Amino acid sequence: MDFKAEIGKLLKKEHLPQELLQAPPNPDMGDYAFPCFTLAKEYKKSPQEIAKDLEKKLKPTKSIEKITANGPYLNFFINKTAYNKEIIQAKTARKKRNGKVITLDFSQPNIMKPFNIAHLRSTMIGNAISQILTYEGYKVIKINHLGDWGTQFGKMMYAFETWGEKTSLMKDPMHYMTDLYVRFHKEAEADPSLEERGREWFAKLEQGDKKARAYWQLFSKLSLQYYDKTYKRLHISFDSWAGEAFYEPQLKPTIELLEKKHLLEESDGALIVNLEKYNLTPCIVRKSDGSTIYATRDLAAAIYRAKTYKFDKNLYVVDVRQSLHFQQVFKTLELAGFPWAKDCIHLAFGTMRFEDGVMSTRKGIIIFLEDVLDKAVESVEKIIEEKNPHLKDKKKVAEQVGLGAIIFWDLSHDRLRDISFSWDKVIDFNGETGPYVQYAHARAASILRKTKAIKAKAAYEKLQAVQEKELLKQLSLYQEAIAKAAEQYKPSILAKYLITLCQVFNDFYEHCPCVTEPDKALAAARVKAVEKTKVVLKEGLTLLGIESPEEM
Ligand code: ARG
Repeated sequence: MDFKAEIGKLLKKEHLPQELLQAPPNPDMGDYAFPCFTLAKEYKKSPQEIAKDLEKKLKPTKSIEKITANGPYLNFFINKTAYNKEIIQAKTARKKRNGKVITLDFSQPNIMKPFNIAHLRSTMIGNAISQILTYEGYKVIKINHLGDWGTQFGKMMYAFETWGEKTSLMKDPMHYMTDLYVRFHKEAEADPSLEERGREWFAKLEQGDKKARAYWQLFSKLSLQYYDKTYKRLHISFDSWAGEAFYEPQLKPTIELLEKKHLLEESDGALIVNLEKYNLTPCIVRKSDGSTIYATRDLAAAIYRAKTYKFDKNLYVVDVRQSLHFQQVFKTLELAGFPWAKDCIHLAFGTMRFEDGVMSTRKGIIIFLEDVLDKAVESVEKIIEEKNPHLKDKKKVAEQVGLGAIIFWDLSHDRLRDISFSWDKVIDFNGETGPYVQYAHARAASILRKTKAIKAKAAYEKLQAVQEKELLKQLSLYQEAIAKAAEQYKPSILAKYLITLCQVFNDFYEHCPCVTEPDKALAAARVKAVEKTKVVLKEGLTLLGIESPEEM
């Protein structure tokens, strides 16, 4: 039941503007207050008199048990049994499908490069957004727009032809390819003509040269096998793996379409869309050497998605450093006359920094994501060994908590912010972390195991202590937190909500015992509140892509 809506109905009957309804500053003034100031003119009475009149007119209901005038306000009091019960029993299930389709472009690793920690942000944020939007009723198409085309392939082909050999490649593909890539850049510093060799190889690939194609296939296959391990470990799946290469056949038609709309200009041999009027640098669609680029493929991809999925929104979870690129692409689509251009949104995120600076495959500072994940899991294993050495399934729990720590750290920060990553903070069981939330969940599970014997009927109206009220209030805000997170495409809103819920729950745990409470009807009501807290924590963590062990 929605109490506010119910009061709204009472007000509507009297033709009163329900949007004036507000939460009063203190609880003696009821749960909702209706200010009468603005009515004074129309009714030609003082607000105080109006409040008095309304007090007589409006009749309490089962759930709105008292309505009283208080100065210029009309105060509404909600029946506590109904209120508490309502919050505790509110359903927490996924909403019905709303018929809207969202395409969500996320993760997008670049073939031949390791899945590094920088990709983690896109993957985690994208996965959480997809689950939150699905919960809210959208149909979400998860697209992994792989970086599987571009000059880097030419460079790798040259490097492999010159310095590589297959046995070593097959043994440890990602490390081997990374080393070759780093070597290419080092040697190219001394001998810039290597860049030209790389371009030549890429041109061969674009022209469909057999050998180049075979290399492309091999490098792609090895990389995908490797990414797949990480996705499995993180329980992440995609509906489409159409990467940049997929759009290759659609590039010519895309350029022709822009041509037809008279959007193209030549500039130093390149084809561009001039965006000067919009204060943007030009969107280059074809380079002077005839090769197409990243932007052309994104134009083709957006057009393809509009046709194939008829999206209501087309979202891209990509590093904030690509903002200009997306502005150019979206503007070009708008100028080309696509009405859906306004529904394309770049969901930008900041950089994750380790102590040793921005990670970059080029500079050779490479942090492999799986090493980071492994390290998190190991650190958690040590903590468990100290805190709870007899825990069942230690390995599994350590994996869940270790990954949870990293994911939560990422998601609990506003996505636009840069994040600094330090180990002690990320896995601190007492900080605003994943393990902290998971621990609260395990604590709730433990309370429920210990109170199975309580058979009394829950007396919900007895939940009146400050900590109980706070817990209920926080629980009542859950759906709103998800809705807000969906609206702003910000999982951090849900993550922060979970942190607050845990803080309130821990307070409740300290002051409101379940096991030792002599009043069994009160204890039973508390147990119900714990049950609900556990459901919300587990579901909230699941939406973020984090597991919740029963014990830890
Ligand atoms: N693979 C790209 C990169 O790492 C990101 C792709 C983002 N998605 C897109 N449709 N452009 O830089």
